[in-house]
Amino acid sequence: MADEQELAEIQRRHWQDTYTAHPGMYGERPSAPATWAADVFRAAGARDVLELGAGHGRDALYFAREGFTVQATDFSGAGLEQLREAARAQDVDGRVSTAVHDVRDPLPLADASVDGVFAHMLLCMALSTKEIHAAVGEIRRVLRPGGTFVYTVRHTGDAHYGAGTAHGDDIYEHGGFAVHFFDRALVDGLAHGWTLNDVHAFEEGDLPRRLWRVTQTVPR
Ligand SMILES: C[S@@+](CC[C@H](N)C(=O)[O-])C[C@H]1O[C@@H](n2cnc3c(N)ncnc32)[C@H](O)[C@@H]1O
Repeated sequence: MADEQELAEIQRRHWQDTYTAHPGMYGERPSAPATWAADVFRAAGARDVLELGAGHGRDALYFAREGFTVQATDFSGAGLEQLREAARAQDVDGRVSTAVHDVRDPLPLADASVDGVFAHMLLCMALSTKEIHAAVGEIRRVLRPGGTFVYTVRHTGDAHYGAGTAHGDDIYEHGGFAVHFFDRALVDGLAHGWTLNDVHAFEEGDLPRRLWRVTQTVPR
């Protein structure tokens, strides 16, 4: 069994290879949580959105088309290259910037500098509980007071929970992809010191993946 560092590096290479072999694999249409998040961000008067784990950008490009200024990050440069190409093709490249960033590292942004943060199926990647708490701490640091964080994660009700290779800490690897399946206690723990606005169960894809969409805001 790989240790934490090895697993992270294997996963980064796996995502690089996956995006290279299957460009645009998630399609061009925005995900359902992204359309929800855009409505929430707009209602809150948000203008700048940070997307973590943006992949090839189906959602980042949607936010840009909706008029937000978007900073999109991922640890796969291959995904982000596809995102930049699509941004140019869709004529929204003026509103989208990209940065290769591993969410286990501090965010290269100033305190209270963004209005909204979005992360679809990122926090449930091969991250330990401690790394997930640290990442959410960083997200809180860069959000302005009143700012909103919308994230989604696969949970312990997912068909793949418990299947494949166990890496400990509720992380299971199946078909080369390692997933940290969330229980409700983890969601509640990550909302400590925030206002937890909404936890919504939904499904995506053919498996289907079973996810929670969580919306939480930084108190003013
Ligand atoms: C399930 S995909 C979702 C991609 C995108 N959010 C979407 O829904 O189209 C997870 C993404 O997280 C990225 N990722 C996984 N672990 C990461 C990490 N430690 N730091 C940054 N990105 C990571 C992968 O490269 C991949 O793009």
